[in-house]
Amino acid sequence: MNKKTRYSDREFSSDLLAWYTVHGRQNLPWKQLDSPYHIWISEVMLQQTQVETVIPYYWKFIRKFPDMRSLANAEVDSVLSVWAGLGYYARARNLHRAARIIRDDRDCEFPRDFGQLLSLPGIGRSTAGAIMAFSYNLRYPILDGNVKRVLMRIHAIDGDPGARETQALLWKIADAKTPGDSPGDYNQAIMDLGAMICKRAAPSCLNCPVRNHCQAYQSQAVADYPRKIRRAKRPVRSCRMLLISRPDGDVLLQKRPPHGIWGGLWSLPQMDDPKAGIRRFCAESLELEVATWREMDMLRHHFTHYELLIHPVVCSIDHSGNPTMDEERFLWYNRNLGQDAGIPTAVERIFKNLESTENK
Ligand code: ADE
Repeated sequence: MNKKTRYSDREFSSDLLAWYTVHGRQNLPWKQLDSPYHIWISEVMLQQTQVETVIPYYWKFIRKFPDMRSLANAEVDSVLSVWAGLGYYARARNLHRAARIIRDDRDCEFPRDFGQLLSLPGIGRSTAGAIMAFSYNLRYPILDGNVKRVLMRIHAIDGDPGARETQALLWKIADAKTPGDSPGDYNQAIMDLGAMICKRAAPSCLNCPVRNHCQAYQSQAVADYPRKIRRAKRPVRSCRMLLISRPDGDVLLQKRPPHGIWGGLWSLPQMDDPKAGIRRFCAESLELEVATWREMDMLRHHFTHYELLIHPVVCSIDHSGNPTMDEERFLWYNRNLGQDAGIPTAVERIFKNLESTENK
């Protein structure tokens, strides 16, 4: 922190809370039921995803798994199928694992202890803090992307936002600012401020209730915080995805390994070396004989760490009957039946493209 702030943390939180009472997002769906279970599901969904995107997924999830026992007793595939499209699928697998731990060790009673929460898969310090503050109104700080940006501007912190020292400093500040009364509202208020006012691009400082506390604003340098770190360009990878149908029209899906991209989801059989022979790949990896094949238009899919160029290939297989496959790893999928299968968005896009070329 450079200059000493002119206002106390107490004034900061009370100005923020006054703003929240009038302008804050107090009607978010997970505030309505207000149980730790619902807060937990919403906070995990919100870890890497914006509120507007989360809302429909949240409702779908809660309808299907209304409580801890229904989630713990479900198959992981059915959890992944509700999550499909939301991305970062480890979150769904971790929710499911944590639900089973809570069912087996605590007869489904949600933990009320910060350390116990932290020990569960998929719950880090900020999510644990949010659950403690929102569910039990206890004084725990949070530090998600929005809160980091707000605090870095308020205190004109110039360090690399991802660096360990910056994180440690921000946790200290977040802790000092979190008030003893209404910590839940305060945490929601500072996240809302980050999302609605103190936005990454074009922040609306004139509407900001805490601009008098903001060192970046006072020195007319809001755009300089947080400092932009140049990241290396995302590498590009290519693959082929095979659309193999049976005579009855069902398409072959293959389960992804549990870790890595789309872990545990059902995707199309994938050739990571796009130059390898299709017939040979199908014979060796799938034990299927491909008669003819044709390429579809290429698709681009963005992951956090790389870009994937997908070359879909429609294959027709030389088979008079319906081939059977190992059911643990393969699924003959009927697109019109709404089967319980988590399918990546990119694969759904390939299905849509195929449909529109078939209908031409
Ligand atoms: N991001 C993480 N938790 C959130 C919440 N409760 N409201 C808005 N954004 C969030």
